[in-house]
Amino acid sequence: MHWFQTSLGKKYIMAVTGLGMVGYVIIHMIGNLSIYAGPGAINEYAEILHEMAPLLWGFRLVLLTLFFAHICTGVMLYLENRRARPVGYARKANVKTSFPAETMIWSGLLLAAFVVYHILHFTLRITNPDISNLIDASGRQDVFAMVALSFTRVSISLIYIAAMVILLLHLYHGIQSLFQSLGANTEKALPFLEKGGRAVAFVLLLGFASIPITFLFVILNI
Ligand code: HEM
Repeated sequence: MHWFQTSLGKKYIMAVTGLGMVGYVIIHMIGNLSIYAGPGAINEYAEILHEMAPLLWGFRLVLLTLFFAHICTGVMLYLENRRARPVGYARKANVKTSFPAETMIWSGLLLAAFVVYHILHFTLRITNPDISNLIDASGRQDVFAMVALSFTRVSISLIYIAAMVILLLHLYHGIQSLFQSLGANTEKALPFLEKGGRAVAFVLLLGFASIPITFLFVILNI
């Protein structure tokens, strides 16, 4: 049996791929906040990214690999754990756990479904073609208009806000858990990882969700 087929190996794969994706999500949130600087800034940011096409595609390939490796390994671990304990405990006395920790598989699968929708929406621009291929005054792809017009639709904003809450749920436990799998599980490190992981998860929720909320407030004239 190879090391990556063992339970420990799979946890390590989950941790490394999870860490890569958390890094991406943090950078993506910071990039998205440039929307507050107006159409010029985010359209410029998108254009610079697209001008670096080979780099962008290399990066996308890495991200896609992390995404699939994380999901496949997570599902395998979940099924293995279920097989090892086919009947649920009647009562889980003295087991220190939490709702986010116990629902990682479900928050993860919902998040994966959101990412597929999100890529169809903003990257492939298939779900709302009427507002997705506009050009700004400087002849660039108008990413600002695409985002703004999307989030003035209440249904789209609600999908995004719900997904951001699920992201919070997944990372609330996920960040501390990945560092523990990588070996940072000393008594000294644990409280710091717990608090730090939760803080990062909340900052991501606020940063991402602020965007649809802002555009919803604009149309509601609040
Ligand atoms: C309000 C929240 C968000 C906004 C406004 C937003 C915006 C965007 C935009 C405009 C793109 C297309 C980039 C382009 O091809 O020009 C994009 C791509 C992407 N986003 Fe988001 N995003 C949000 C939340 C998220 C979250 C929470 C995740 C992960 C859980 C995520 C993951 C991705 C991925 C994987 C891509 C594809 C990357 C690529 O095209 O190279 N996004 N996002």
